Amino acid sequence: MQHIEIIIGSQMGSAEYVAEQLQEALEDQSIVTTLHERPVLSDLSHSIWLIVTSTYGAGDYPDNLIPFINEIDQKDNLDLLNFAVVGLGDSSYDTFNHAAKNCEKLLISKGAKQLLPNLELNVLDEALPEDTALAWLPNFIKEITKVA
Ligand SMILES: Cc1cc2nc3c(=O)[nH]c(=O)nc-3n(C[C@H](O)[C@H](O)[C@H](O)COP(=O)(O)O)c2cc1C
Repeated sequence: MQHIEIIIGSQMGSAEYVAEQLQEALEDQSIVTTLHERPVLSDLSHSIWLIVTSTYGAGDYPDNLIPFINEIDQKDNLDLLNFAVVGLGDSSYDTFNHAAKNCEKLLISKGAKQLLPNLELNVLDEALPEDTALAWLPNFIKEITKVA
């Protein structure tokens, strides 16, 4: 049975809400999850991460994610890790979904395996971003079933 570490990057709660909806849907399918609102690398013992993050500032990570990103930065190797990223952003910024994109790049640079392309939600288009994320979720579930 897979265990998914759901990692939240959220300043005002929208990405957190999406992450909670994804958690509920995964648990409905008997997939075990742990939600990390203040992620700490040493708390993550399972090798599949689902990162749900908004972007703030000028393409920055939300505050709660910054210490975790710094921890990852200092790791030499994460080649046993599998991950997917859901980003929430606003396309009126030049730095649309940069936190999601930078997180993807960072993990790949550490040797982690990306399970599927980022889902990058545009809050200008999405009245209910959680619905689009829930519609995407079966793609993620399909990929995690392939992870040994
Ligand atoms: C001050 C501020 C800066 C933002 N900067 C960006 C940005 O650089 N790129 C982007 O794609 N979205 C940006 N956004 C949009 C947020 O990512 C978006 O509103 C998101 O839904 C917020 O999610 P959260 O409530 O989980 O933090 C910004 C929003 C605010 C209020």
